[in-house]
Amino acid sequence: MSRDGFGSKLGIIAAAAGSAVGLGNIYRFPCEVGNNGGGAFLAVYLLIVLCLGVPVMLSEFIIGRRAQKNPVGAFKLLKPRSGWPVIGYMGVICAFIIMAFYSTVAGWTLEYIVKAVGNDFQGKELAVIEQEFSDFHNQGWRNVLWQFVFIFLTGFVVFKGVADGIEKYAKILMPLLVIILLVLGVRAVTLPGAREGLSFLFHPDFSKINGSVVISALGQAFFSLSMGMGVLITYGSYIKKDDNLTSTAISVTLADTLIAVLAGVVIFPAAFSFGVQPTAGMGLVFSTLPMIFNQMAGGYFFCIIFFVLLAVAALTSTISLLEVIVAFFVEEWHLSRRWATVLASLGCMALGVFASLSLKSGSGLTIGGMSFFDRLDMVSAKILLPIGALFIVIFVGWIMGKKTFNEEITNEGKLKLSVKGAIYFIIKYLAPIAIAIIFIKGFF
Ligand code: TRP
Repeated sequence: MSRDGFGSKLGIIAAAAGSAVGLGNIYRFPCEVGNNGGGAFLAVYLLIVLCLGVPVMLSEFIIGRRAQKNPVGAFKLLKPRSGWPVIGYMGVICAFIIMAFYSTVAGWTLEYIVKAVGNDFQGKELAVIEQEFSDFHNQGWRNVLWQFVFIFLTGFVVFKGVADGIEKYAKILMPLLVIILLVLGVRAVTLPGAREGLSFLFHPDFSKINGSVVISALGQAFFSLSMGMGVLITYGSYIKKDDNLTSTAISVTLADTLIAVLAGVVIFPAAFSFGVQPTAGMGLVFSTLPMIFNQMAGGYFFCIIFFVLLAVAALTSTISLLEVIVAFFVEEWHLSRRWATVLASLGCMALGVFASLSLKSGSGLTIGGMSFFDRLDMVSAKILLPIGALFIVIFVGWIMGKKTFNEEITNEGKLKLSVKGAIYFIIKYLAPIAIAIIFIKGFF
């Protein structure tokens, strides 16, 4: 089966960074920081990213590039007649789950572009903007409509195989997102009362750290870096034999983390200044941001550009999720790319409807006292991604072994890499132990 089409011309850094940078940085990260005590969460998060980010990402790349296949096919090929493909299947299921709730929020970015163009936030009080945000949820089907538009867009790009074209735009647009975040950051930290927000983010109160904070940080780290479910295995299968895996993993990890922290520097000072609770969840982002634009010269234009960039960032992430499912359908079920994309998109829509509608107050769409939306988020980030990542590092460390690891990481000896022994040690011993401990502590 030929591996061209989607990824052959794709710069791997652009693709992996496109997958990593998205709503996870701008909306999920601030929510998690706010709900887990601020600075303490950030400290744990950074520690986890530093220790586990690069090793886990590398492990996925190595599996993918070695096997040249989707996650299920990769495990089948590298360890025939074993239970390992289960990890691949889990990844495909996880892709559906993440798509279902992620596309809900991605749909909101479209609604907010329309609002921004219509100058809908201008001069409004915080309370009004907050009210309109929750009114919007309560119009359930309007969310679903935007969600479907977004999934359709994703399917279109994946089917057309023009993802590399999108990534090329993203290469230009994402630095622009960083610039807008910087501008917003300057505005946010100069608002009255902003200082408190900064100290909430950067002054860790270590007594707040507990099992639940640590597993939240682990889940957020994996979620934000798109790790633990095979996106990077799939992308790894498109990486050329002479690309440098290690430097790619480092660049992607740094860029993603920088953007998340930057989002925090924008959101928290502004939220404290406007009187939005740090635990306000999605409102933290979707109400605070329009308020900042309201208080800025040129806010009207910045607001439009910001939500357009956010939608593009979300799109490059949903592309990566859908690509995992499509690659699986094409290679394992031998569907044509067209039918694979249609089936994958319809599946995401079917599950996604429940995620969107469950946010309507009194919808009754709950599982175990949690809205369907939150449940999908929780199951993927805090259960499936850590389990996936755990088995991925075990696979590279213990099943593929040191020789294969060295071959992949040095491109068959062409690259000199003095730290390869240390990275292998982390992948084989440290990472599995750390993930297992955090996971067990977080739950029991
Ligand atoms: N990392 C993306 C974000 O932060 C979301 C995402 C894309 C993702 N692909 C993923 C999360 C795979 C987990 C696994 O917005």
